[in-house]
Amino acid sequence: MSNDTSSKNRYHDAPRAADFTIDQAWETYSAAEHDRWDRLFRRQREIAKGRACEAALTAMADLELSAAGIPHMGELSDKLKKLTGWRVVPVAELVPDEIFFEHLANRRFPAGAFIRPEKEFDYLQEPDIFHDIFGHVPMLANPVFADFMEAYGKGGQRAMQLGQLHNLARLYWYTVEFGLIREAGDLRIYGAGILSSPNETVFALEDDSPNRVAFDLQRIMRTKYIIDDFQQTYFVIDSFDALLDACYKDFGGVYDEVKSKPAVEAHETVPEDALIHRGTLDYFRTKAGL
Ligand SMILES: [Fe+2]
Repeated sequence: MSNDTSSKNRYHDAPRAADFTIDQAWETYSAAEHDRWDRLFRRQREIAKGRACEAALTAMADLELSAAGIPHMGELSDKLKKLTGWRVVPVAELVPDEIFFEHLANRRFPAGAFIRPEKEFDYLQEPDIFHDIFGHVPMLANPVFADFMEAYGKGGQRAMQLGQLHNLARLYWYTVEFGLIREAGDLRIYGAGILSSPNETVFALEDDSPNRVAFDLQRIMRTKYIIDDFQQTYFVIDSFDALLDACYKDFGGVYDEVKSKPAVEAHETVPEDALIHRGTLDYFRTKAGL
């Protein structure tokens, strides 16, 4: 994280444990910061209706995320732990890869403790508490997705040993951050990067320009991504079970195969793509064998 972005993060110099966790110091949030959370939450909850996947919407209610004020991560963890054994732990900013994977592999999600400043109400580049809790935590209450995230953490540790992190990171990007799912005969959102952005929530589902491609593990690992604009390609899973099934294995052989194929630009499609056009149910009928 560069100095100009960290300067507004008051947790930047907070004492951190060896695993990079800090004290959320919940009592130090100002009334304005709690109010900012409430406004972010209300706006995004409204936009997410009918667009976020059922699992995310259900979990927002189960975890009582609509309660006033910035969530207390300890209390939130107590609720989440009962559902899937996951906890949310506060960190000051993005943590090193090996620390991140160690947390995930042990069912701990590191969440930024700071909330974006008012002038960045609509968009900020680094993950704050709204992105991490509104975007990521509801999905961790889903038992299958919770297993996927733990497996991803373990896969990250393995990818580091193999020098293949760049390929694995694309899987995270196109699923955990920007994933779409087939649900109720339509498309819904489960990716946190979309769910925490009002404009991309609408764009990802309703704009004509991005490619929407059926999930394919190798295709994703070959695909570059952009970090400073809406995505040009979204990948669509059939179900969380299908995602876990496709990824619950050692990726050693997959990395070898990916290495032998050309990279795909973020905006490109390739002939093997199963493209999904929202509003036509052909894809879903085909998939369902109807
Ligand atoms: Fe994220």
